[in-house]
Amino acid sequence: MTLELRNLTKVFGGRGKPIVRAVDNVSFTIAEGETFGLLGESGSGKSTLARMIPRLIEPTAGEIIFQGNPLTHLNERDMRNVREQIQMVFQNPFSSLNPRMTVRELIGEPLLIHKRASGAALDDQVRDMMKLVGLNPEHTNRFPHEFSGGQRQRIGIARAIILNPKLLILDEPTSALDVSVQAQVLNLLIDLQRSLKLTFLLITHDLSVVRYMCDAVALMYLGSIVEQGNVNQIFKQPKHPYTQALMRDIPSTNPAQRMLEHVSLEADIVSAPWSGQGCRFSPRCPAAQIGNCKTVEPPLIPVGDGQLGACHLIQPQVNQN
Ligand SMILES: Nc1ncnc2c1ncn2[C@@H]1O[C@H](COP(=O)(O)OP(=O)(O)OP(=O)(O)O)[C@@H](O)[C@H]1O
Ligand SMILES: [Mg+2]
Repeated sequence: MTLELRNLTKVFGGRGKPIVRAVDNVSFTIAEGETFGLLGESGSGKSTLARMIPRLIEPTAGEIIFQGNPLTHLNERDMRNVREQIQMVFQNPFSSLNPRMTVRELIGEPLLIHKRASGAALDDQVRDMMKLVGLNPEHTNRFPHEFSGGQRQRIGIARAIILNPKLLILDEPTSALDVSVQAQVLNLLIDLQRSLKLTFLLITHDLSVVRYMCDAVALMYLGSIVEQGNVNQIFKQPKHPYTQALMRDIPSTNPAQRMLEHVSLEADIVSAPWSGQGCRFSPRCPAAQIGNCKTVEPPLIPVGDGQLGACHLIQPQVNQN
């Protein structure tokens, strides 16, 4: 399994409504078996990006290539087959489960929809799945309100994996849960990833979740990736002023970067809106007074060892030849 996004874009609005470029020209590749973290503040476009992958939201432009196959031109029937392989787990296990359905119906529904099993065979699979995610298989006739938040998220995970998918898109899977329960659900996900050979796209705004779970990380800001790298690069040598502000307590020996560490994120996206010109982070970046920051949008370029950054102030990768 590999997933490649090429220049994926979603524009909402138009026809009298304000235009929002929720996802703006995003490209990245997720390798088989890895956990790719998508990190960003509220409103940065994470959920919109995630929902475009199985085409629950239609992209405005760009391409989604899943296991070598472009998805954007598939018809509904072919797309249904692809959706068996790409499943989502949502943030809120309270609102994402139909309160009138039993656990058996909730976990078994994908099998019915995709005509994989029914009757006693379905019951068996549901019970196996409940055991796998740490639920009591005798509770198949209970309703969501009879479970705790963590148990409900286990139901959501069981629903997502019962069709044996390749890619799980986890949109803030633990942010609605008590801290004490979060680690249990994350550990369940790690176990399932190993035993079922799953690939994860994990959306979060929680740095500790990124550090615990992810191999690669992309930072999204106002619809665009501003930095990308492996988890060590992002935590130990962040290059973009936005990432550095997030990781502020990490010391740097490079004087130029030390200056960038004085970035203040006191202003938020609302109080310092982007004009649409120049770097989208420039209204909040105190270092953005020089050169092209206010006029030219910095492209996402290699900044060393596979790390990527979109900032006029970071040195591009030096060619070794
Ligand atoms: N259906 C829609 N119509 C218009 N604008 C939308 C729609 N869905 C999302 N947006 C806008 O697109 C932007 C990105 O929203 P999105 O929900 O993808 O962000 P997010 O990163 O998932 O945020 P959060 O962390 O709060 O979940 C926001 O400005 C949002 O208001
Ligand atoms: Mg979201």
